[in-house]
Amino acid sequence: MNHYMREFIQTTGELLENDQVRRMGQWKHHGPISTLDHSLFVAYLSFRVARALGLDKRAAARGGLLHDLYLYDSRDKSAHPGWQCFDHPRAAERNAEKITPLSDKERNIIRSHMWPLGGPLPRSWEAWLVDLVDTFCAGLEISGIYHPSRLRRRLGVQPLTTPVSG
Ligand SMILES: [Fe+2]
Ligand SMILES: [Fe+2]
Repeated sequence: MNHYMREFIQTTGELLENDQVRRMGQWKHHGPISTLDHSLFVAYLSFRVARALGLDKRAAARGGLLHDLYLYDSRDKSAHPGWQCFDHPRAAERNAEKITPLSDKERNIIRSHMWPLGGPLPRSWEAWLVDLVDTFCAGLEISGIYHPSRLRRRLGVQPLTTPVSG
């Protein structure tokens, strides 16, 4: 583990050990990639870019980690009311605010991450960053260029694959 990873772990703190965050490990998001692996990939890359550009690295890391915390199987049509593209950022925000106090910026990062397909406009550089990084990571995952479970293992995050209540 390098010093960037240690700093990322300090920045995201207790969220990496949170059961709801680790529960994302039970659902597939892009092909064989779990939602947890994808979210850690987006969070870590957003953190690194924000850090390099002198932006709010904490909001980028936390927003990135929580942006897809919708906690259901996206292929299960009964799990959410309408169109996944609109629904999942709202569900992620609802779930995220139950586990940690969100700043307005973090809330907007989560809600706007599907822009321009759905949701509100990104209102900070960090929100634009996470939106872009999400698309970039999805491209690497779908094309099979990078499997982010490698990053998750290096960060020492254990997926929770058995359903838990709450
Ligand atoms: Fe998403
Ligand atoms: Fe995503």
